[in-house]
Amino acid sequence: MTVPPILELKDLAKTYQVRQGMFSPKLPLKAVDGVSLSIPRGETLGLVGESGCGKSTLAKLLLGLEKPTAGEILVDGVAVSGASWRKELSRRIQPIFQDPYSSLNPRKTVRRIVAMPLEVHGIATAHERARMVEEILDVVGLPRRAADSTPNQMSGGQRQRVAIARALVMRPEIVICDEPTSALDVSVQAQILNLLLELRRDFGLTYVFISHNLAVVEHLADRVAVMYLGRIVEDRPAAEVFAGPRHPYTRALLESVLTPDPALGVPDTRLGAVFPNPIDPPSGCAFHPRCPHAAERCRGDAPAPKADGGGRVACHYPIERTA
Ligand SMILES: Nc1ncnc2c1ncn2[C@@H]1O[C@H](COP(=O)(O)OP(=O)(O)O)[C@@H](O)[C@H]1O
Ligand SMILES: [Mg+2]
Repeated sequence: MTVPPILELKDLAKTYQVRQGMFSPKLPLKAVDGVSLSIPRGETLGLVGESGCGKSTLAKLLLGLEKPTAGEILVDGVAVSGASWRKELSRRIQPIFQDPYSSLNPRKTVRRIVAMPLEVHGIATAHERARMVEEILDVVGLPRRAADSTPNQMSGGQRQRVAIARALVMRPEIVICDEPTSALDVSVQAQILNLLLELRRDFGLTYVFISHNLAVVEHLADRVAVMYLGRIVEDRPAAEVFAGPRHPYTRALLESVLTPDPALGVPDTRLGAVFPNPIDPPSGCAFHPRCPHAAERCRGDAPAPKADGGGRVACHYPIERTA
């Protein structure tokens, strides 16, 4: 019998109803549009794409913070749904968000913040919880005295360590990291990435690692999924993607990070035309207005994902393999 992946998404979709002006009618916005992905236990999926493509919405669906409009999420092969889904899964799936300042109460002590998930789930006695907090602070490289500090007394990197400690104190199996280093200085980013790598090894974690920057996932991801306007356009083993992207959008993202400008938070994809309005997506392949190779067919006909080596690519005219 084959072991099911720890996490599997089947045709997952989330449509928001939005107004563009106060008096205009509500229109559907497909933030996540038919996403299917599979993540084996212990692997890291790097989910990349420009701001607004739907990465955080996908993270919220995985965390049970938003309800899918369609599709399924399976954990260890079992479909999860219903009202108890969030609580049931928060033991197994924990988030680390981009901005620890807004996700951590700045006036509570680190001790309280990190103990909170344990309290909410009624895990252990107060005495045991205190010990578990000290242990996890050690694990994330914070001194014990940090327990009595508040986040507003700490640096950005230390705050992100607190957020990691809070996620790990529950001993989750899956960690959803949504741009966990994007708000940090470049030197601190590397420290946090290294910490996440160590933790993956020591705790056997499975990560969904989200970034707008393909370069950030290079040293972490086993697999890379590239998202454009709510859809996955390329999903392949990371080594293959970095050796030779197949989708023109992936190549544009890669080229944009070959000339990194640390002052720029968002890589310049040099794609000219701006990211399309998700309420009024382009016809055919959503990427065609920005694609250097777009042909007539791309304007009318949306490409379905096709098997490609160890993964899938959704493009009528994928880039030729060089190797
Ligand atoms: N709660 C919401 N209501 C309406 N639209 C939303 C909501 N959350 C996100 N969106 C829209 O969904 C799209 C994807 O957003 P998001 O998932 O935050 O993208 P990313 O994390 O890749 O930047 C964007 O167009 C955004 O404006
Ligand atoms: Mg986001």
